[in-house]
Amino acid sequence: MVTIAVTAEGPDEPRVAVSPETVKKLTALGAKVRVQSGAGARARFTDDSLRTAGADIAASAGETLAGADILLKVRRPSAEEIAALKPGAIVAAILDPYDKAAMEPLAGTGASLFSMEFMPRISRAQSMDVLSSQANLAGYKAVVDAASLFGQALPMMMTAAGTVPAAKAFIMGVGVAGLQAIATARRLGAVVSATDVRPATKEQVQSLGAKFIAVEDDEFKQAQTAAGYAKPMSPEYQAKQAELVANHIKTQDIVITTALIPGRPAPKLITAAMLAAMKPGSVIVDLAAERGGNVEGAVPGQTVEVSGVKIVAPINLAGSLPVNASSLYAKNLFAFLELFFDKKDKSFKVNWDDEIVKGTLVAKDGRIVHPNLAPQPAA
Ligand code: NAI
Repeated sequence: MVTIAVTAEGPDEPRVAVSPETVKKLTALGAKVRVQSGAGARARFTDDSLRTAGADIAASAGETLAGADILLKVRRPSAEEIAALKPGAIVAAILDPYDKAAMEPLAGTGASLFSMEFMPRISRAQSMDVLSSQANLAGYKAVVDAASLFGQALPMMMTAAGTVPAAKAFIMGVGVAGLQAIATARRLGAVVSATDVRPATKEQVQSLGAKFIAVEDDEFKQAQTAAGYAKPMSPEYQAKQAELVANHIKTQDIVITTALIPGRPAPKLITAAMLAAMKPGSVIVDLAAERGGNVEGAVPGQTVEVSGVKIVAPINLAGSLPVNASSLYAKNLFAFLELFFDKKDKSFKVNWDDEIVKGTLVAKDGRIVHPNLAPQPAA
């Protein structure tokens, strides 16, 4: 029987990699789940609720890890944690694998390390897609936070004392977070517009009742990679995009930026000059803050005011909804592990040739193995 360990996260990470629901499901597949006491507390999963679902609760991290076959985490575990597992154990987490200096000692433990953010975007893996499950919550929370900082109402209200105008919200980057931000801003009654560089987003934006704004030239038509992500745009495109944004942003009250390009710093979409032209009292939430930010002057983890515009640059916004974020993340991990359990004899065996395994495996047998992390040839 395989033992799955779940230890507590660090002080900055309120989420947890397991829920009572997934304990039950993993146990039904034939695994033993061992959770460190208190690991679920910030997600409101008590030791009792996890125990009732079938988990063993261990008093310390050391006891939880000792000899386990699989470690599930939200954040990258330490090499010491991994060393306490069975040799060659499996680790699945949001590893932030481009940080080479941090990854090498982990790879050196000989464990098989799976980076959940590398999940291939194929329909079979949709239920395992942690970027989507977390970005969706972040997109929602960004709008709610912006609405609360914006000292005015969002919906148009016609009252006997006069009319309150609808606020204008602009969503930049229409991936998973951006789509949820559009939907949330619309529900709150704002007039919503959105932009992206991938042509597929135009119809999605319009179907949510928002206005699509973008430089739709030849480069735009080619901007989506086979993996469904955006390409870095040329300086010429960026200049045209900046001009369009500069004009549009002057009239906006709330701006949510979510633009990312995998493995690269976030594109800068809002300059100091654009901020200066915005209406004082406007609010920007920069969801790309962890990757360098889309907004000039945004400070990760802080709210700053530039030219009368509040710029919020949250880190781990999904983590500010730890109950939902943990439930969904734990389900993503369950769906991933379920691939390797034989339903009949309840054995566990990784199929190393599976597309999902190859796509997410970043280290094995002491070496970094993922093609995205191979040294880049000199230009
Ligand atoms: P992301 O988090 O990598 O980027 C967010 C958005 O920023 C993207 O829409 C991207 O096109 C946009 N962006 C990048 N550079 C920009 C720029 N200079 N200006 C404006 N926007 C820019 O993307 P996310 O949320 O991960 O989604 C990417 C795509 O993958 C979406 O089409 C999504 O629907 C799809 N997807 C497919 C899944 C599956 O089939 N399993 C699962 C999840 C998402």
